[in-house]
Amino acid sequence: MQGASPADAGAGFAVAGRVALVTGAGSGIGAALAAALVDRGAAVVILADLDAVAAASIAEALHRPGATEVIAVALDVADATALRALVARIESEHGRLDLVCSNAGIGTGAGVDAPVPLWQRAWDVNLMAHVHAADAALPGMLDRGEGAFLHTCSAAGLLTIAGDAPYAVTKHAAVAFAEWLALTYGARGITVTALCPLGVETSMLATEDLLATRFVRGTGRVLAPDAVALAALDALESGEMLALPHPEVAAMELARASDRRTWLARLRAAVAALPTVSS
Ligand SMILES: NC(=O)c1ccc[n+]([C@@H]2O[C@H](COP(=O)([O-])OP(=O)(O)OC[C@H]3O[C@@H](n4cnc5c(N)ncnc54)[C@H](O)[C@@H]3O)[C@@H](O)[C@H]2O)c1
Repeated sequence: MQGASPADAGAGFAVAGRVALVTGAGSGIGAALAAALVDRGAAVVILADLDAVAAASIAEALHRPGATEVIAVALDVADATALRALVARIESEHGRLDLVCSNAGIGTGAGVDAPVPLWQRAWDVNLMAHVHAADAALPGMLDRGEGAFLHTCSAAGLLTIAGDAPYAVTKHAAVAFAEWLALTYGARGITVTALCPLGVETSMLATEDLLATRFVRGTGRVLAPDAVALAALDALESGEMLALPHPEVAAMELARASDRRTWLARLRAAVAALPTVSS
């Protein structure tokens, strides 16, 4: 690793004037990302969501005549054929796809005994959708010598999360994939950022009786989606591979790496101290 210099850092990716796809844009962090892209002058933002009505209503709220073109589409990111077809359609209708924000994600609230179809669904949504979108969008980006991926992962992908085995595992995989993309294509003009927040106030944290929800709320500050989206775009624009809207996650990662036994003991104690659910 000798000889690394600031010039080795990612170049960064300015979003103004770009054609961007945001998955899971019908609510929460995805909707906030779409709004931030509009604010920063993206040319076209395509909002894709399983919930087509929610995506359409966010798109309508973001529409301003003469500004960013905002389009809503229905998409299940776990449907690889549909996801790849959407990338091809965007490239054909808008001439290019510059930025893919793979943001749609799901929690399961399940443990090791989660039914196999639930493990598979988490795998398909939280990881394979990132893989298929990258595989479909990369050829055009590499031809143009520039492009970017913003992967919404999670602090659970750097650390872990109590109460949701499929989420912890698939988010680790998503961070690993983002890092691999950055390593493999960074020198060819591709910017990759993995967004890894702790708690964010969205519908994902609405089910208070889930251990995973109580764990996240008990781990630290719960941020507004808008703040998370701004931190994500700031990191992307400055070429940071990790976007940490909660900067304390960096110290947690360090503590975990330097003494795994103490880190796990701390986590177990934190889980044991969580308030129980009143029935
Ligand atoms: N809320 C948090 O505390 C938190 C923390 C870290 C990471 N994240 C991640 O942020 C991302 C966005 O979640 P959020 O917190 O905004 O939750 P959210 O539930 O508000 O938004 C998720 C959106 O994704 C859509 N979606 C779900 N499955 C889909 C699919 N198969 N295809 C297309 N769209 C689909 C939903 O309809 C919804 O609009 C997820 O990847 C999540 O894992 C959330």
